[in-house]
Amino acid sequence: MEKILYAKPVIDNEIEVLKKKCLELNSKGVHPSLKVILVGEDAGSVIYTRNKKRFCEKIGADCEIVKLDEQVSENDFLEIVANYNNDSQVHGILIQLPLPASLSHIDTTNLVRPEKDVDGFHFYNVAKLFAGNKGDKELIPCTPKGIVTMCRHYGIELEGKKVAIVGRSIIVGKPLSLLLTNHNATVTLAHSRTANLKEITRDADIIITAIGNPKMFGKEYFRNDQSQIVLDVGISSMPEGGIAGDCDFHQIKDQLKAITPVPKGIGPMTIFSVAQNLLQASENSL
Ligand code: GUN
Repeated sequence: MEKILYAKPVIDNEIEVLKKKCLELNSKGVHPSLKVILVGEDAGSVIYTRNKKRFCEKIGADCEIVKLDEQVSENDFLEIVANYNNDSQVHGILIQLPLPASLSHIDTTNLVRPEKDVDGFHFYNVAKLFAGNKGDKELIPCTPKGIVTMCRHYGIELEGKKVAIVGRSIIVGKPLSLLLTNHNATVTLAHSRTANLKEITRDADIIITAIGNPKMFGKEYFRNDQSQIVLDVGISSMPEGGIAGDCDFHQIKDQLKAITPVPKGIGPMTIFSVAQNLLQASENSL
């Protein structure tokens, strides 16, 4: 296995499948269409939404970034979402988070109808994950889905493996713990209050860091026998410029079997999964 697990070879390999699926849908009269709702101008969100649009268009799907002013009223915001929910020409809706302070009191979890919920956040979709689905036909959260796609590509076995996830967010850690359990991994979900974190990460076969604390995981968190695999979900902007993951990549890479870089690791896999979910939602609409 390669030491550095880049997203590019995975996506280069899988993108043809998505393009073909999109053409098949077109031939059945379905033109996959995603609405990405972006409120305000959060710098990270502007970049993420642009990347989602670019990738959807690359596979032949439509993606519109619906830009709303930071001062948009709650009523107008809810009405816009409701209109897309009721529009049969729209197959996927994604509300980019975080919302600005003026709307941050709104619980967006169940705003998008479950069949258009390309984020996989709706309780109905979460319940399917809870019930044991592996995400092949269901809309499941994009980062967990992308992680499984990457593991499949690089031949990273999950069944029977000890996986330590650090971070219990509802976007990554919690759904990932369910998904990997459904793939027969033995999962430990660690977080900021976990005692003896180093013992847990040193004992695992695969460690997935998703806390957003740049370079927190140094060499003391891992064994020094090149047997462990680290998947780094963290993306933090650095004061000196650039972005960094949760792991101190250069300090730890030599003692591991493999590691994802930041950038160019898990981030692009999340975007890939958005497009996959959009095609799944479009297919389910038939
Ligand atoms: N902001 C950061 N990550 C995500 C995500 O996966 N989905 C949405 N909607 N917003 C995000």
